[in-house]
Amino acid sequence: MDGNGRWAQNHSLGRIAGHRKGAESVRNIVEACRKIGISYLTLYAFSSENWSRPEREVRALMTLLERYLRSEVKVMLKNNIRLLAIGDTEALPEKVRAVLRDTIEKTAGNTAMTLILALNYGSHDEILGAVRKLIDEACQGKIRASDVTLERFAGYLSTRGIPDPDLLIRTSGEYRLSNFLLWQMAYTEFYFTDTLWPDFREEQLIEAISGYQKRERRFGLTSDQVQKRA
Ligand code: FPP
Repeated sequence: MDGNGRWAQNHSLGRIAGHRKGAESVRNIVEACRKIGISYLTLYAFSSENWSRPEREVRALMTLLERYLRSEVKVMLKNNIRLLAIGDTEALPEKVRAVLRDTIEKTAGNTAMTLILALNYGSHDEILGAVRKLIDEACQGKIRASDVTLERFAGYLSTRGIPDPDLLIRTSGEYRLSNFLLWQMAYTEFYFTDTLWPDFREEQLIEAISGYQKRERRFGLTSDQVQKRA
């Protein structure tokens, strides 16, 4: 969700005002996804590298997150949305952890859409964590190298049970993955836009999805093979 800082600068405001506006886009996009029938939406809200930002900005982001969760739980319950989190959430401030735990628990039975917040998330850490668990289990004699299939490995990631993303949207003219879902995005379609995140709303989302719908996903096959299968 890139571009909050630049949006603020363009409007002669401080960076935190940009994040506040960005939180409005979060509300709008979650609502739009639910309306058009998206089953899983993952938002990269705070990376494991974001701790290095100025302390005041980190504190403001944590407060925004806490407020967002407190205010949106009603909306999630009303709209049948389940909340999950990926990343090392233990390192988040206790107030955020508490409301996160509470919202995850309260929405656990919801089935129409899953909203996943990536918080203190980094793909390298996630993959390393999975490798460490596998090595521990192998040392205890619980598994052998040949047991480590793609499916089994995916089960050690924080996204276990969540399908791989079909579409990645990156805003604000950045063309990087920034340590986001590296394992999970092997066959994900990418959509890059210059629109800054606070200006990214339902209309821009529909444009991104319409572009995605025109693509042919071949998963290594030829176009002919894909068409025959369809
Ligand atoms: C990156 O843009 C944005 C972030 C690191 C924070 C994203 C947070 C929100 C959208 C609001 C809070 C989240 C929720 C789920 C309520 P940037 O600040 O790097 O922008 P810049 O590149 O223009 O400086």
